[in-house]
Amino acid sequence: MCIVLCIVLCIVLLNPCCYLPCQNQGVCVRYAEDEYECDCVRTGFYGENCTVPEFWTRVRLFLRPSPGVVHFILTHFSWIWDIVNSTSMREFLMRLVLTVRSNFIPSPPTYNSKYSYLSWESYYNVSYYTRLLPPVPEDCPTPLGVRGAAGLPDPELLVERLFKRKTFRKDPQRCNLMFAFFAQHFTHQFFKTYNRMGPGFTKALGHGVDAGHIYGDSLERQLQLRLLKDGKLKYQLINGEMYPPTVVEAPVKMNYPPNTPLDQQLAFGHELFGLLPGLGMYGAIWLREHNRVCDILKPLHPHWDDEQLFQTARFIIIGELGAICLNVFVVAYPNLCLFKVKLFE
Ligand SMILES: *[C@@H]1O[C@H](CO)[C@@H](O)[C@H](O)[C@H]1NC(C)=O
Ligand SMILES: *[C@@H]1O[C@H](CO)[C@@H](O)[C@H](O)[C@H]1NC(C)=O
Ligand SMILES: *[C@@H]1O[C@H](CO)[C@@H](O)[C@H](O)[C@H]1NC(C)=O
Repeated sequence: MCIVLCIVLCIVLLNPCCYLPCQNQGVCVRYAEDEYECDCVRTGFYGENCTVPEFWTRVRLFLRPSPGVVHFILTHFSWIWDIVNSTSMREFLMRLVLTVRSNFIPSPPTYNSKYSYLSWESYYNVSYYTRLLPPVPEDCPTPLGVRGAAGLPDPELLVERLFKRKTFRKDPQRCNLMFAFFAQHFTHQFFKTYNRMGPGFTKALGHGVDAGHIYGDSLERQLQLRLLKDGKLKYQLINGEMYPPTVVEAPVKMNYPPNTPLDQQLAFGHELFGLLPGLGMYGAIWLREHNRVCDILKPLHPHWDDEQLFQTARFIIIGELGAICLNVFVVAYPNLCLFKVKLFE
């Protein structure tokens, strides 16, 4: 009797938004215990659950080829792309691609881990990571609303089942790990979880490309990493090759798995760079480059002290980082990894 009553009550009291009724990015707003309304503004759809396409949405859906067809067109028919590339269609298409892609991201930003509704705070407080979709309401029976298991799956199991690859497979689009790690090491200088405030927060200092992942994000960390001689960063030589120092020599806080001996922990500007080989590789490359630039600057400016050599070398590294990102990475990414045609020259 009691259980039956509870089941009835629970069903009655369940937040209707837990069923995630609103489609096409419509936003669910709860009105009464069991009433909701979908806010379909600017989704291109209307109706109770934002499922009925408006006229132009209908036309667009009808005309839009499937992603597979788009990919096929983009990677074949090079004569078409030659024509596109040599006419003003190129500018038109580039503009289209850029606006379509930037429209994926709502501006001003919408939600964050605290606000599941639009608010000034979620727009203004840039220390929060923003999010595109509101979270599943907190009072739902399962993490996915009403379906699925009552708890989130074990992350280890998830990685094992979904992501672990046991044999090497060449990327059919000719991308490689160095490419992916370039993006990761680059963005980590500005997308950086602010440990003191919790995982929902980013540092968001607004310095952008500041090479903070090479030099540390505080003066204190920077000074620990510097040799304080000839503008250089601390380093160690292994078989005659330059590598970052260990945390014994440069005592900065790094995130390594527990029980990693201190003399095996390398020190980087960014505390996570010791965790992944690709990030460590880029860390080592920039360390070598910084010290190489110092070696060139010193004989040119024999009267400069350590500080001026360091600051100038840092400027040069930031310039190199930006130039490589724009002139090599951004240009090569669509050519190499998205389309085999050279639309983006
Ligand atoms: C909208 O979604 C709810 C909940 O999923 C469903 O019961 C209802 O029938 C849907 N309405 C329409 C018009 O599809
Ligand atoms: C595209 O056009 C530019 C000049 O507008 C030219 O430099 C480039 O080589 C062309 N690319 C291809 C693949 O034809
Ligand atoms: C952003 O929100 C957090 C948490 O509420 C708060 O500690 C922080 O001071 C806010 N930052 C700004 C710039 O308002």
